[in-house]
Amino acid sequence: MTDIAIRLRGVAKSFGGMRILNDINIDIEKGSVHALVGENGAGKSSVGKIIGGYYSADEGVVEVFGEAVTRFSPRDALGRGIAMIHQELQLVPELTVLENVFLGLESNTAGFLRKGDLARFHALEETCDFGLNPHSRIADMRIAERQKVEIMRAIAREARVIIMDEPTSSLTEDEAERLHQLIARLKARDVTVIYVSHFLDHILANCDRVTIMRDGKVIRTDAIAGETKNSLVDSMLGEASEISWPTLPPRPAEQATPIVEMENVATATGLSDITLKIFPGEIVGLIGLVGSGRSEVARALFGADPIVSGRYAIGGVVQSRRLKVPRAIAQGIAFVPEDRRKQGLVLTQTTRPNISLASLGNISRHGFINHGLERSRARKMIDHFGIVPSAIDGKVAFYSGGNQQKVLLSKWAVEKPRLLILDEPSRGVDIGARQSIHEFIIEMAENGVAVLLISSELEEVINLSHRGYLMSDGRIFAETDCRDTTVDEALHRIFEEQGAVSRGKEVTQP
Ligand SMILES: Nc1ncnc2c1ncn2[C@@H]1O[C@H](COP(=O)(O)OP(=O)(O)OP(=O)(O)O)[C@@H](O)[C@H]1O
Ligand SMILES: [Mg+2]
Repeated sequence: MTDIAIRLRGVAKSFGGMRILNDINIDIEKGSVHALVGENGAGKSSVGKIIGGYYSADEGVVEVFGEAVTRFSPRDALGRGIAMIHQELQLVPELTVLENVFLGLESNTAGFLRKGDLARFHALEETCDFGLNPHSRIADMRIAERQKVEIMRAIAREARVIIMDEPTSSLTEDEAERLHQLIARLKARDVTVIYVSHFLDHILANCDRVTIMRDGKVIRTDAIAGETKNSLVDSMLGEASEISWPTLPPRPAEQATPIVEMENVATATGLSDITLKIFPGEIVGLIGLVGSGRSEVARALFGADPIVSGRYAIGGVVQSRRLKVPRAIAQGIAFVPEDRRKQGLVLTQTTRPNISLASLGNISRHGFINHGLERSRARKMIDHFGIVPSAIDGKVAFYSGGNQQKVLLSKWAVEKPRLLILDEPSRGVDIGARQSIHEFIIEMAENGVAVLLISSELEEVINLSHRGYLMSDGRIFAETDCRDTTVDEALHRIFEEQGAVSRGKEVTQP
């Protein structure tokens, strides 16, 4: 029996004269987990948005459970049981988890939460098993937690088709595994999941069928059973390719003065006893699970969170505990944060000023921006990373997720910093772009820049770093030479440490 939940026939879509989707034909079987893969900008999110009612097709037909729909809004889509979890999360930061999960539901038309909502939340929590506190404010939560709230929102709406656009992009392997178990439970209840991701391992392990897209077209749709990572990548790129890690330049000799040095640093954000050094030309990884304090170390180095005790020196100069971001930037510290929407890009602007934003001091004279120089630098980075669209004045807000990430990275690359901190630099980017980001990191190190790398993908940190600090529970508990560390070893040490920590501590929170 092949019951079709969603059928696209000859769907096309243009924006401002640019064709972004061409003759899209896809059948998505009811109760299946259907993957969409393709390079950045291939059109995956746009297909999701057409199914979810966010974009309307210019041509072609969308059928939902056998019925053709025309011009339907996200609300209409929801009425037909379709919910979309966006790549760029869309929660209301000022509200709590509970409010975000239930507001806007039919039963809450007045805009107020009802008495039964807390009970309903707990029932949902039984299904989802996310361990979320219903009263936490979204603004105070990490991106991984927010992603879980989005997923709960869709489930609360009793969706029968859920489009998940990069759902695991900020989850740890363990959290991703739990999401996949949840997807299996949804599937058992005949829910259809459309799963967009760049993690091919996750796709191979959890999806039934896959549609591969390139340049706004469907290349093919097939059963996952016959696929491998390489077969997917070959179709995505349209050529045979190898997935490989670049060769690191030799680890630089320890010099007298590290670029940055922390001694027994503690912060109000929960770090304690952080002691680290990074030398010029060295790539140092922070190895730990989400929540272990890696991003907090990055923020402290960047002057974004005050230091409450300990010593922090940049280039041998001891910093005030009230070090502020502009002062850190002035001393050559650059930071590409984890959450590009909130902290990185000015979405209302075009590519060019977004790229030059961080280095204005160097391209402006007497308060005037040297537009020629600004343009040529932006051009160089667009070519280097293959940013699409390649127009210097493209509106960043409309770029695909991966291309926004590349713009963000370029912003710091135009100026050679002394320390470049990268928090999840390759999240959401495709394989080709990932490799150009890796090459870029190595090029920076070869030019004497110190690099601090954070990635939830342990394989990435370990393969790209000279040295690593192992973190757990806001502390660095060990240092390791990454050249003779394996992912398995690192994971084991982290879990062992976590076990030791929780055994040695009073449990205060349920
Ligand atoms: N609202 C819009 N206005 C203009 N262009 C758009 C809009 N939405 C999408 N596009 C363009 O359509 C193309 C496909 O984008 P889409 O977001 O679907 O890619 P994607 O496959 O999801 O990529 P990624 O892996 O980077 O998320 C891109 O070139 C993008 O710039
Ligand atoms: Mg996308």
